[in-house]
Amino acid sequence: MTTQNIDGAAPDRWARHKKLEKNVALLGLFAFGAVIVGGIVEIAPLFWIDNTIEKVDGMRPYTPLEQAGRDIYVREGCYVCHSQMIRPFRDEVERYGHYSLAAESMYDHPFQWGSKRTGPDLARVGLKYSDSWHVQHLTDPRSVVGESIMPPYAFLADRDLDQGDMSAELTTLNRVGVPYSKADITKANQDLLTQAGAGDGDAADLQKRYPKAQVRDFDGHPDRLTEMDALVAYLQVLGTMVDVNAPAAQEQLSQEKGR
Ligand code: HEC
Repeated sequence: MTTQNIDGAAPDRWARHKKLEKNVALLGLFAFGAVIVGGIVEIAPLFWIDNTIEKVDGMRPYTPLEQAGRDIYVREGCYVCHSQMIRPFRDEVERYGHYSLAAESMYDHPFQWGSKRTGPDLARVGLKYSDSWHVQHLTDPRSVVGESIMPPYAFLADRDLDQGDMSAELTTLNRVGVPYSKADITKANQDLLTQAGAGDGDAADLQKRYPKAQVRDFDGHPDRLTEMDALVAYLQVLGTMVDVNAPAAQEQLSQEKGR
């Protein structure tokens, strides 16, 4: 009669396992093997599929002006207090609107999801307030929200936007996968002015390449192109590209949920 362990395994099998437990080199070798197999299973498929993010109608790269505003957002560290990712929880959805879709940040380099919320999430702040509200709020937050602890950014309205070379920036983003067209890249500097209502560019052409782009003066001073223009243009587009209530988007959403 053979003696059995509590869980029914034969004793010689445990003896072999003990050998593994007592021999560090052998254990290391087996652990290494397990990680290799697991790694291949997890990582290898990523080389054969083009994209892990489901396409959603309406997503487009940022316009040069929005991108310039985003650069200011990053420069000023707005992400230190604000996240841009609405989680799929009832309290968040009731407060901020539809939860964020993976596709909505697919052209963000780097993404601004964040995890620290001293202020509210900004993923869907676009078109929630008027341009003049944003200008007033950024200039002096406590003049519109009495108890606000957000620092003032009044200087943005005084600083001319350093346009730099937007073609170069779009080219760089294109290299990491943001689908800017040749026309987008060559017209980038012109597009930036056109969207802000400056220059004599063709707004219809801009909106054809960047659907739903908001073309106007954003900071209340049509004669100047300031950092405030760019930042407000960026804030006003957040969460507005995908129509989350459209039937097509709903279908994609329910598929996402089902996974
Ligand atoms: C020290 C933390 C802090 C920093 C940094 C900060 N904010 Fe805020 N922000 C807040 C707080 C707190 C609120 C909520 C009170 C209010 O509306 O002022 C807020 C509110 C906002 C709102 C209104 C959101 C809403 O839905 O009502 C916007 C827009 C905003 N911030 C944009 C910015 C931008 C752009 C920057 C960077 C230039 C920035 N914030 C930097 C703390 C911060």
